Amino acid sequence: MEKIPNLDWANLPFGYVRTDYNVRCYYRDGKWGEIEVSSSENINIHMAATALHYGQEIFEGLKAFRGADGKVRIFRLEENARRIRESAMGLKMVPVPEDLFCEMAKKAVELNARFVPPYGSGASLYIRPLEIGMSASVGVRTSTEYLFMILVSPVGPYFKTGFAPTKICIMREYDRVAPKGTGRWKVGGNYAASLGAGERAHELGYSAVLYLDPKEKKYLDECGPANFFAIKDGRYITPASESILPSITNMSLQQLARDMGIEVECRHITVDELDHVQEAAACGTAAVASPIGEIDDLDTGKKYVIARDGKPGPVTTRLYNHLRAIQLGEEADNHGWNTILDI
Ligand code: PLP
Ligand code: COI
Repeated sequence: MEKIPNLDWANLPFGYVRTDYNVRCYYRDGKWGEIEVSSSENINIHMAATALHYGQEIFEGLKAFRGADGKVRIFRLEENARRIRESAMGLKMVPVPEDLFCEMAKKAVELNARFVPPYGSGASLYIRPLEIGMSASVGVRTSTEYLFMILVSPVGPYFKTGFAPTKICIMREYDRVAPKGTGRWKVGGNYAASLGAGERAHELGYSAVLYLDPKEKKYLDECGPANFFAIKDGRYITPASESILPSITNMSLQQLARDMGIEVECRHITVDELDHVQEAAACGTAAVASPIGEIDDLDTGKKYVIARDGKPGPVTTRLYNHLRAIQLGEEADNHGWNTILDI
């Protein structure tokens, strides 16, 4: 086995790459078992498992970075451990204890240290924890057995354009989630429900769909697999909605904005307000902070051109650089967001 995998680090897509190991833990007989390390990419699952029939599947997404000092940093590990518990409770699954989640994530990164992309490559190690209901059931009910596992994969930017403005669209014929549904949790079914809209948007040349609130179709909700924020008259504005995922990246950017003296407003944002914003971006673990250059409302035909010069806006650029610098250990981690591994 070569020490450094032969990968084109600087040009990695956001995709799956086989690594050396994954970690697993089973919940059976009312308790979580021992952490298992596996080099197999397969799992053994009953054909009647609740995950397969009734969608008891939740996941997380976080990243590890090789820093300027050679150390590996996992960004906001505890916050992801907290959020998957919320998702578990939403789908009536048994939540993974936060310390187990953290221990397994660290182990998955440590065991695959040679796949953490080198500092300066722009790539990172994506960590994908997931929990699935394993009990056989034909009746619609919650599982009594669960599998929690973590796989990792080195990844590049989510949007092909990298840190350059993309075009997104609004299409009212599609919803990703219901008004009081599962949007606030990270459940596989939400993503299945978004595939049709996503594919249509890609066919039309857009990188993502900007979903509106599913009840009134009046307010902005989120942007494909990312939250949305905009800069309006010097303020950071981002949708308040119970049908979107509480993005940990968004939360972090809001804190950085406040640190920079920028006012943050988390509130309803109407579609019309897009006429009055100076910058817009999609934010998330995969998307980081991806500038949005134009938003086309396909129902009204209205085009909101945001990045008139085709360049990312100054506030988005500062926020992006600040976040990246903390993740890479180039700037002080004043809020204690990184878990440092000496590997
Ligand atoms: N919204 C959705 C639907 C997502 O899938 C993601 C990705 O995780 C986000 C928002 C961003 O969340 P985070 O910043 O925690 O990755
Ligand atoms: C992430 O940003 O971590 C995500 O989960 C997005 C993913 C669904 C591609």
